[in-house]
Amino acid sequence: MKAPSLNTIQTGMRKIERREWVLWASAVLVTLLLTAGIASFLMPIVHERQGEFDAFHLSLAVRGLIALVLLFDLYAIYQQLQIYRMRHQLVEREQLFRLISENAADMIAVVDANGKRLYNSPAYERILGYSQEELQSTSALEQVHPDDRARVEEAAREARAGGVGRNIEYRMRHKNGTWRVMESTASTVRDAQGKVETLIIVNRDITDRRHLEEQFRQSQKMEAVGRLSGGVAHDFNNLLGVIIGYAEFLQERLDGADPLRASVDEILNAGKRAASLTRQLLAFSRQQVLDPKVLDLKSVVTDMEKLLRRLIGEDIELTTVLDPELGKVKADQGQLEQVVMNLAVNARDAMPQGGKLIIRVENTVLDQDYVRRYPYPVQPGPYVLLLVSDTGIGMDPETKARAFEPFFTTKEKGKGTGLGLSTVYGVVKQSGGYIDIDSAPGAGTTFKIYLPRVHQEAPAEKRSTEASGERRGNETILVAEDETSLRTLTCATLESRGYKVLQAKDGLEALEVSRKHGGTIELLLTDIVMPGMGGRALAEELGRERKEIRIVYMSGYTGQAVGSQGPVEPGSFYLHKPFTKQALTEKIREALDSRVTVPAS
Ligand SMILES: Nc1ncnc2c1ncn2[C@@H]1O[C@H](COP(=O)(O)OP(=O)(O)OP(=O)(O)O)[C@@H](O)[C@H]1O
Ligand SMILES: [Mg+2]
Repeated sequence: MKAPSLNTIQTGMRKIERREWVLWASAVLVTLLLTAGIASFLMPIVHERQGEFDAFHLSLAVRGLIALVLLFDLYAIYQQLQIYRMRHQLVEREQLFRLISENAADMIAVVDANGKRLYNSPAYERILGYSQEELQSTSALEQVHPDDRARVEEAAREARAGGVGRNIEYRMRHKNGTWRVMESTASTVRDAQGKVETLIIVNRDITDRRHLEEQFRQSQKMEAVGRLSGGVAHDFNNLLGVIIGYAEFLQERLDGADPLRASVDEILNAGKRAASLTRQLLAFSRQQVLDPKVLDLKSVVTDMEKLLRRLIGEDIELTTVLDPELGKVKADQGQLEQVVMNLAVNARDAMPQGGKLIIRVENTVLDQDYVRRYPYPVQPGPYVLLLVSDTGIGMDPETKARAFEPFFTTKEKGKGTGLGLSTVYGVVKQSGGYIDIDSAPGAGTTFKIYLPRVHQEAPAEKRSTEASGERRGNETILVAEDETSLRTLTCATLESRGYKVLQAKDGLEALEVSRKHGGTIELLLTDIVMPGMGGRALAEELGRERKEIRIVYMSGYTGQAVGSQGPVEPGSFYLHKPFTKQALTEKIREALDSRVTVPAS
């Protein structure tokens, strides 16, 4: 059905009026005729001409008059029906018009040429909180933000003068004092002379959209910074691997009394510090390889309690509230411990005079409400919520908005790197979770971390009990790594531990080496990201050709090649770059000594 315009309603009304006039006019005419007819009966009686005016003529005349009255009745009924039909149509249209304007999500206003309000749709009350009476008693400009008034007036003037409205954006005050952002379009209605009679204004509340756009920009910025820092950290890791590796070689060869020994120790220390920085950057950019396991957050928190108490000092009281029915999550335990630790350290720094730190874990469900509020696409469903609250100084909105940015810190130079929360953010995101901050200056801070609940049992604790030390072997290892100096160093380290080593600069060459090699190859140590054939594809191919081979991946970076989550597949091992000699030899031994674990699925 076509929506009624003001014009069609006016035309309808005019038609009804015309029909009613015609009806009245005919009624008057018929009455006059009847009167004249009746009067003419009386005339001959008065003039005593009964002879001429016989009964026959009389009955003819009466019949004629009756026919006239009947005709008029029929005509009146017909006209009345027409009027009824038209009224009915008008009422229907009017109802439709009301339905549209009352149920439209947008606010519709009609003002006259002088800016006086003629109509405000009920959406005004819904969106801005003002009742019809309150609106009627104020001018149309009263709720507009003072800074935007001139613009609104200008647009209205233009519409009145030119007859064409344009789109503008401005702020309107909600009854509760907050400002809502409106996107407004005006159109004009002209009278018969073509003069602008009324302005129809449609206002759309775009506050939430603006808010989302702002949050989206923020998250895009985080992504971009993440990619950048991830890329830098990746290249740095390889270089650091070489520096640490060769420094370790030197350290081994120089005895404690050697005058150069102290210098080498310093190089090694600096290298390790740098490695921990790049690791944090990679965590933020979500490009580290996680080793997710089904975990009970309760035991993660309980295990850390002693350490945390030592970390936060005696002035701060630590309370943990653990839901006994807590569901499981799938995450990397080491990374989660890092998250809790970073949050606890921040809380400590926010409470220099002491206070309370509460760590709480509970089950929760993310519903559509939360999904709408959150700037990223949120998966509704069951989650485990980890809350870390402090009673510290809190954050102002500016700090809150930038807290997760790498290198953002409010601490004095040399105190904070600004990487703590970026690491937290990266780990949470990479584990498929979400993070929120509740904070206000002076009111403390609560970090809320949502991790998806999984319906699996945590595996029994299985910690390696073997003492770490010199791990040696005589198995054959194939090393695939594109960075030449790192490959040379790794091969030399393995050879020095008694292993037979084959090497290749990428996946394809590794396959070739394997095919040419007559004997067994017990283990493949491969970089994940390599030009041509990457580590994943190589491992798959070699696994088909040599069923017994164990796989150890080494990488500091997963990139797209392994997917953003980047967990290693069950049954294989992972070595984080840059690694020390000890980490390398231990991981190799661990892999070689493990049963061959072909995953069930
Ligand atoms: N619990 C908190 N209370 C108040 N402000 C906080 C809290 N946690 C973080 N902040 C603010 O967020 C900023 C960034 O925190 P982040 O952990 O990323 O870096 P940092 O603590 O300054 O340095 P780093 O953790 O690298 O040593 C802090 O400088 C601080 O201003
Ligand atoms: Mg910190």
